Amino acid sequence: MKIISDIHELRNHLRGQNRASFVPTMGNLHEGHLSLMRQARLHGDPVVASIFVNRLQFGPNEDFEAYPRTFEADIEKLEKEGVYILFAPTEKDLYPEPQDYQIDPPKDLGNMLEGEFRPGFFKGVCTVVLKLFSCVQPSAAIFGKKDYQQLMIIRRMAHQLALPVTIVPAETIRAEDGLALSSRNGYLNTEERAEAPYLYQLLGQIQKQIHNTQDLSQATVMAFEQQAMAALKQRGWMPDYTAIRLQNNLQVPTQENLLNRDPLVMLAAAKLGKTRLIDNLEI
Ligand code: PAJ
Repeated sequence: MKIISDIHELRNHLRGQNRASFVPTMGNLHEGHLSLMRQARLHGDPVVASIFVNRLQFGPNEDFEAYPRTFEADIEKLEKEGVYILFAPTEKDLYPEPQDYQIDPPKDLGNMLEGEFRPGFFKGVCTVVLKLFSCVQPSAAIFGKKDYQQLMIIRRMAHQLALPVTIVPAETIRAEDGLALSSRNGYLNTEERAEAPYLYQLLGQIQKQIHNTQDLSQATVMAFEQQAMAALKQRGWMPDYTAIRLQNNLQVPTQENLLNRDPLVMLAAAKLGKTRLIDNLEI
């Protein structure tokens, strides 16, 4: 595996080859990330991964400095997955001057859910992803459903800007007890780690209840959301949101959507101690 930090060197290396399948990451790689590498391989050679902890997507009170950086271990894992190039730019490589041109996602999608609790987050994500696409010029890029809203926002960006890249979704990889793998799970202490799978269990319970409800109305959907908020609070979590939305645009389902049984997804974000966890489940 070739490790490249310089944009021009990356371009030189990729010249004359098939366009890559690309997996952008912020490192501290786990099985979730590695499953994306495997999916990239299915989509075509060469596979390019990136590791870049993107300052632009961290809020002032978020964990940019503390974000886990495990470069040597990450390299070993990527070697084993047959990744052809690891693009690991420094901040100077990717942002040699202040990044004044930024991509602001549309408000209806960017300011709700994660965007409401992490202002500027999706602007930072879209900006870095567009820039990484511009560096790598992939034919396909793989994103995890774990970050459901991120996947949707990037998909719409690629569509609306006519980017010549196919956005490929990948299923969420979980620990045996159901907890979605995440770099932030490392922040959990033993007690919190034992409690953490509850978030996914709760999503599963609500999914079942929705399946068992004959005449789903907006009122029952809201009641399910509130039930989930209350259940989390009762167990000592600090939930930001629990939301039942339409899979295809993350908007609140109308009565008509519910009558048609349009596909729904339940998304949740909650803090357990100092650690903020997110998860979702398609219904
Ligand atoms: P990061 O959190 O490192 O995630 C990189 C990719 O791995 C994302 O597409 C994410 O959805 C996926 N992923 C994370 N956990 C997963 C799991 N348990 N199962 C399946 N896929 C999982 O997301 C980012 O980085 C950044 O925002 C980035 C897109 C790289 C832009 O900086």
